[in-house]
Amino acid sequence: MAKINVGLDIGFSSIKVVSLAKDQDRYKLVSLGSTPSPQPGIISDVDEDLEVLADSIKKLFTAANIDQREVIAALPESKVFTRVIDDLPYLTDAELSSAIHYAAEEFIPMPLSDVNLNWQVLVRSEAKGRNAKTVVLVIASPKNAVLKYIKVLDKAGLRAKVLETEIIAVTRSLVGNDPFSPSTLIMQLGATTTDFAAVSKGLIWLTRSISTGGIALTRSLVQHFNFEMNQAEQYKKIYGIMEDQLEGKVFEALKPVIDIIAGEGRRVIQAFETKYPSNPIKRVIVSGGGAKMPGLVIYLANVFGLEVQEADPWYSIVKEKDVVLKLSQDNSSYSAAVGLALRTED
Ligand SMILES: Nc1ncnc2c1ncn2[C@@H]1O[C@H](COP(=O)(O)OP(=O)(O)OP(=O)(O)O)[C@@H](O)[C@H]1O
Ligand SMILES: [Mg+2]
Repeated sequence: MAKINVGLDIGFSSIKVVSLAKDQDRYKLVSLGSTPSPQPGIISDVDEDLEVLADSIKKLFTAANIDQREVIAALPESKVFTRVIDDLPYLTDAELSSAIHYAAEEFIPMPLSDVNLNWQVLVRSEAKGRNAKTVVLVIASPKNAVLKYIKVLDKAGLRAKVLETEIIAVTRSLVGNDPFSPSTLIMQLGATTTDFAAVSKGLIWLTRSISTGGIALTRSLVQHFNFEMNQAEQYKKIYGIMEDQLEGKVFEALKPVIDIIAGEGRRVIQAFETKYPSNPIKRVIVSGGGAKMPGLVIYLANVFGLEVQEADPWYSIVKEKDVVLKLSQDNSSYSAAVGLALRTED
């Protein structure tokens, strides 16, 4: 029987699950599903809230007909410290490990004993020499954040094979490790945060996370129009960032928040291009639930002066015809879950 991989993305506004079967060199969609997250959900530290959340996850697995108990789950970018270290010379494995620990102390604002430290080598020269260098992506996950996820999964009767950060999973489903894909800025617009990654040659070179996401946009409409949250949410989804709708009133209310997000995107592009001047960013991919906002792609294309695309995490995946239509409606919400399920074992 084909091996089945389950990716689970526990977001603040919704929980998404995807299971894929490996069929020779390709992945085939087996099942998918999503359900609204109970509130306060994953941001809570209270046991009872986490029980309620675990119960929703259990029901989602039943509804999606997934009986695997081992999953690959995502940690939120905002809780994890990610950094590319690119000023290392040629190093042996042992030297590399100690160099990373040394560098990590500088960018992690907590004792190293409180984090799980992982890294991925991006570039490594084969031998010593003047131009020899080593570039690594270092990921430090605070142990208390990791433990919370393990606890929730445990309450849901699940076990985490791997926990990785949301933006790493998103990058895998949207760009894969295609060394020929153009240099890309990925923007993952969630409910609580927007996460960014500068990706080139199929590798992540820079990441950032800000606490401005879909909720901030909805709140802006609440304040402007004195709406209830639900009503504001609907206006956001229907009118979005389109100047010609409702005399531009919704546009005006959303614009300052979108500009915060776009501004951070521009800073990530600039930071990447300053470091790697021969390798300019050629396109932007918007992903996450917020990517579906009407007018967003065009608005961002004007801001960045670049090609902007809405994410399609399913592009490399084999699927039956009848699910294709359903998928196209909420493509971009599944980027992290698909990327998690695409992770191969180390
Ligand atoms: N059509 C739409 N237009 C605008 N915003 C939308 C649309 N559909 C969903 N959203 C917004 O996307 C957000 C949810 O996206 P997503 O499912 O990626 O978040 P999440 O993973 O639950 O949150 P987080 O990653 O912050 O924990 C919500 O804020 C929602 O309002
Ligand atoms: Mg999310």
